[in-house]
Amino acid sequence: MAASTESYYLGFDFSTQQLKVVAVDGNLNVVHQANVQFDSELPEFRTQGGVHIHADRLTVTSPVLMWVKALDLGLGKMKNAGFDFSRVRALSGSGQQHGSVYWKKGTNQVLRDLDPGKSLHELLQNRFTVPDSPVWMDSSTTEQCLHLESAMGGPQRVADITGSRAYERFTGSQIAKVNEYSPMQYQEAERISLVSSFAASLLLGQYAAIDYCDGSGMNLMDIFSKQWDESCLLATAPELKEKLGTTVPSSTVLGPVSAYHVNRYGFPEDCKVVAFTGDNPGSLAGMRLQEGDIAVSLGTSDTVFLWIKEPRPTVEGHIFCNPVDGTSYMALLCYKNGSLTRERIRNECAGGSWEVFSSVLKSTPIGNNGNMGIYFDSVEITPPAVGVHRYNNENKKVAGFPAQEEIRALVEGQFLAKRYHAEKLGYKIIPGTRVLATGGASSNKEILQVLSDVFNAPVYTIDVANSACLGCAYRALHGLVAESGVSFAEAVRKAPEPQLSVSPTPGAKKLLFYSPPPPPPQGRRCSQCGGELQ
Ligand code: XUL
Repeated sequence: MAASTESYYLGFDFSTQQLKVVAVDGNLNVVHQANVQFDSELPEFRTQGGVHIHADRLTVTSPVLMWVKALDLGLGKMKNAGFDFSRVRALSGSGQQHGSVYWKKGTNQVLRDLDPGKSLHELLQNRFTVPDSPVWMDSSTTEQCLHLESAMGGPQRVADITGSRAYERFTGSQIAKVNEYSPMQYQEAERISLVSSFAASLLLGQYAAIDYCDGSGMNLMDIFSKQWDESCLLATAPELKEKLGTTVPSSTVLGPVSAYHVNRYGFPEDCKVVAFTGDNPGSLAGMRLQEGDIAVSLGTSDTVFLWIKEPRPTVEGHIFCNPVDGTSYMALLCYKNGSLTRERIRNECAGGSWEVFSSVLKSTPIGNNGNMGIYFDSVEITPPAVGVHRYNNENKKVAGFPAQEEIRALVEGQFLAKRYHAEKLGYKIIPGTRVLATGGASSNKEILQVLSDVFNAPVYTIDVANSACLGCAYRALHGLVAESGVSFAEAVRKAPEPQLSVSPTPGAKKLLFYSPPPPPPQGRRCSQCGGELQ
């Protein structure tokens, strides 16, 4: 079935600071965009950056009704702008990962019977047992993480099952905390959704299932069987399985859009809602990653997404089910020491100039003559460590490098770490591997050249403004044909291609992955004294 250019596909993204909506036509051209900034357009919720940071500085939440009101506002803006909802054949979306929403008993019925004369915000007042949802920025659940890991037999065991060791922001430990500190709110919750499945529920008019991919960010699901893991559930909270509902493949058509939206906005009755997923998975779809590809976002913190065929979960990084391919996985690695560290070294070693920094990268040798550095100005996430550590070509720790060596050691070190962690998780560079670079530093060709040399693969750049919601508009379109066996790549082949930026320098591999010759064979040793025998 060809996607008609007359038809539209909508992608939503409920991110931390705003709601974004994008509409594409059957040729995947963007035909409409809207967004709602939480802080400035919904000031009554008094958020900063979309969240409430509590007095302990560890607890971070967002008002669930703010997200509901944002949807009212976003769809209202589109209607006022004359967007023709009657052409929308399918919609999907994403949400910030890990956040949880607690629906009060009876709300599934309320969602089915919504009065199109009223806003969702009016209709869903008091329908949540926890009005302020815990979100991914929360780090208050160390106790619950330790409990899960010890109940399961250690961090690696939790990772082996769920794809990640226990993390504070992951939904399982957040649910355990709600159950522990607010047991009534836990018990009165009929359904617990992720931000993604909550948002899908608002459009579907009933509780929407959690998709395999975003479900992988909970420390509750077995990423291989794609079912809830009974022992993780048991170690988290009582009667949890019923509250979570079933999990579904990410390309599942959940059903038609609710009658509420048909009547209020003019969606066609047969407009399909495709399962929502997490924002990082949504971006993977938006960038159209393929097997063997790696996406590197070079921002305040650096984030890496990988397409993996045979994952090997470790205690560093996360493995999620793949959002666009049922037999693959994606990995996510987060590095806190990204641009801020690059800027510090630029200031100290290149007089604050990116031009000087780049020309140093251009003129210094690949492999930095064997000098390497690890630069963790603040406590790193992958791995959890801090401090600056430099090693010279004799593998001896040194206190400092000359400015030029420092610059190359930093950039090579940052990318070598990414490759090392990626390969530890099961990532393989294959013929055709592409590195897709995004974020602020991706405009610097010399930095990208180092990236290309380290991964021994060409680096492409791609415009990822709105990549999560764009990816979900693509997923909406794919959802209509996924059941008939059409792959995601095939369904979205008309989407804009990334641009080739740099290719690996010939011979770089040898210089970066130099392995010293084996030591000369030792003479025979005396079994008594250990001395060398002549
Ligand atoms: C991923 C994570 C964040 C949120 C941000 O594990 O916690 O990237 O998804 O929206």
